Amino acid sequence: MMQNAGKVIIVPGYGMAASGAQHALKNMASVLSNKYHVNVKFAIHPVAGRMPGHMNVLLAEAKVDYTNVFGLDEINPDFETADVAYVIGANDITNPLAQTDKFSSLYGMPILEVFKAKTVFFVKRSLGSGYSGTPNPLFWADNTLMLYGDAKKVTEEITVKSRGVK
Ligand code: TAP
Repeated sequence: MMQNAGKVIIVPGYGMAASGAQHALKNMASVLSNKYHVNVKFAIHPVAGRMPGHMNVLLAEAKVDYTNVFGLDEINPDFETADVAYVIGANDITNPLAQTDKFSSLYGMPILEVFKAKTVFFVKRSLGSGYSGTPNPLFWADNTLMLYGDAKKVTEEITVKSRGVK
């Protein structure tokens, strides 16, 4: 699906850091853009991970081109024209209950609106919740595919398969 996409938006979160998946992610993005001419963007939520700038530091370490990295306000209008949102080890920062459930502890937090993408991949190990302990209804949405496993391992497997095909 990503090989055939026009636009893929990668959304990293705490699990990307925990798994050390940033280099694998950079490789996957390079294969998609160089081999398949996909427009690949990275979306950074201000509280993704566990400390300010957590995702930015890791993507910089992996030498992700900074012109492809966007903050929340800049990237949110892009999701509705994205073919795939590749959400890797992120959870709370995408949870639509932050917009809709006033009894949720997340209520009022701005989110990355990944649910607007044509297809949403969640790369994580289970249906478990994130830091806030809040269930994420997107895991059961019609346009969501769960890719269970360690963030780095899953991303490496996708990249190997993409390199071999076409
Ligand atoms: P979270 O909502 O905490 O979700 C991270 C997800 O990563 C988990 O649901 C977990 O699911 C998955 N995960 C963990 N290890 C993984 C691995 N090895 N491979 C694949 N997936 C893995 O993270 P987020 O979306 O980045 O949101 C950040 C949260 O932390 C917010 O609630 C924010 O308020 C809070 N917080 C942020 C900061 C700053 S300044 N960034 C500071 C304190 C608190 P599985 O267990 O199913 O794999």
